[in-house]
Amino acid sequence: MAKAQKTYHVALVPGDGTGPEVLAEGLKVLQAAASQFGFALTTQGFDVGGERYKRTGEVLPDSVVAELKAFDAIYLGAIGHPDVKPGILEKGILLRLRFELDQYINLRPVRLLPGVETPLAKKGPADIDYAVVRENSGGAYTGCGGISMKGTPNEVAIQEMVYTRFQVERCLRYAFDLARRRHSSAQPWRGLKPADVAAGKTSQLTLCGKTNVLTYVFDLWERAFYEIAREYPDVKTDYCHVDATTMWMVKNPEWFDVIVTENMFGDIITDLGAMTQGGMGIAAGGNINPAGVSMFEPIGGSAPKYTGLGVINPMAAILAGAMLLDELGEAKAAAAVEAAVAATTPKMASQAAGRMGYSTSQVGDLVAAALA
Ligand code: IPM
Ligand code: MN
Repeated sequence: MAKAQKTYHVALVPGDGTGPEVLAEGLKVLQAAASQFGFALTTQGFDVGGERYKRTGEVLPDSVVAELKAFDAIYLGAIGHPDVKPGILEKGILLRLRFELDQYINLRPVRLLPGVETPLAKKGPADIDYAVVRENSGGAYTGCGGISMKGTPNEVAIQEMVYTRFQVERCLRYAFDLARRRHSSAQPWRGLKPADVAAGKTSQLTLCGKTNVLTYVFDLWERAFYEIAREYPDVKTDYCHVDATTMWMVKNPEWFDVIVTENMFGDIITDLGAMTQGGMGIAAGGNINPAGVSMFEPIGGSAPKYTGLGVINPMAAILAGAMLLDELGEAKAAAAVEAAVAATTPKMASQAAGRMGYSTSQVGDLVAAALA
């Protein structure tokens, strides 16, 4: 008897600007992967973003949040509108979904694909291949603090970096597991010296913090890090202050394997990482709740000036789609999509919008063809 085909329900949030264009190409590739690997994807679109806000005044209705909780995954295009005051959509949609769906991991791979130009001199795909695990539920993003005596010379503003042991531990465990998983296959070893390998280490996890100044929050992170490390003798531990991390990401990216860090540090260093891997056109990320509904997105914004021109790069959205497949448990399909992207990038003139040598949909077609 034929095995029943597995079906996943994916919520689509195309959003603003070029979001719908890139998401359409991502979906094209995901559907091609589904038919090739014998599973099905059903989709339902949600109208959320700057346009809806301008039309109706609604940012993100509670009913939509409730509906999204019933999907297997969320696939997001872009959120951001030039006519909407900064902060409203970001906090009201992106951050609200991350918090309410408890997507406590923001996973951002930094990988230079073949044929992609990097601003780092003398570095190639073998040097730039690591993942940043950004804590996504705490830190300065929780909104703890306030302003008093506003508008007076004595005005005080406080925004606190808040972490619980629980938040820190679950994030660190995810990062250790990822470090282990990245090397369960024949991946090249990174950051390891022969002595590490002789000691049975197969991967490396770097804690990125600021233990010399933020002595409360990173005391907690550092203690939890070394305690949990005892459960992972195969993972070499490493520590780097956040300022030094940015330096090494530029000078010696090959030292990194997996980097784990708090929310705002992760926000900042992953924009740097994105630039080293070829720019926002190719950088993807996942907001992950390992036991719930995760949301995948190209890291770049809504790029209003390119909207509707068919010139925006869909690679980041396609790679976010590969991450989505991986989280659904379709690891083979995810790897095939990544390989198809890696087979397509060398054919492109550039990863920059308008200079790819192909239109947005032609890039999607090329990836889908490479998959087959
Ligand atoms: C990101 C973005 C968001 C963040 C903004 C838009 C709220 O910069 O996903 O990195 O700071 O997390
Ligand atoms: Mn950011």
